[in-house]
Amino acid sequence: MRIEFELNGAPACVDVPADTSLLYALRDSLGLTGTKEGCNVGECGACSVLLDGRLVNSCLTLAAQAAGRQVVTIEGVCNPDGSPSDLQQAFVQAGAVQCGFCIPGMVLAGEALLRANPRPTRLEIRAAIAGNLCRCTGYQQIVDAIQIAAARRREKIHHD
Ligand code: FES
Ligand code: FES
Repeated sequence: MRIEFELNGAPACVDVPADTSLLYALRDSLGLTGTKEGCNVGECGACSVLLDGRLVNSCLTLAAQAAGRQVVTIEGVCNPDGSPSDLQQAFVQAGAVQCGFCIPGMVLAGEALLRANPRPTRLEIRAAIAGNLCRCTGYQQIVDAIQIAAARRREKIHHD
């Protein structure tokens, strides 16, 4: 079936069997391999993307469910000039990236949180990434990174 949606701000179209997950449509049909396949059963969050701004596991989402909606993957969170976003820079600064496998999902989980709650507590950050597993167990640094980005965004709003 033919599915049209908005992907990282641009029109996208895939032609896939009706039971194709959004994860496979993104990776195999559209070549966006930043979205990772971990467990493929909704347990790890490596496949996290934003669907209409809400964090979803793309392994549990049918590609067909994205029809007419907005999808944002890790490839779509950078600055317009292609440089890393403030949140991605904060991950680097905080030393939050080890093997990197969970990081696209973590960044999208952080992004979803910061859009909804610009002043999250550490507890709220932990809750927001509760569905994202880091096998390298760098959780403290990941929470630090999201906190750093939250503070920077608040400062920016204050100065603008
Ligand atoms: S691959 Fe989707 S939650 Fe693990
Ligand atoms: S950095 Fe390796 S799984 Fe998280």
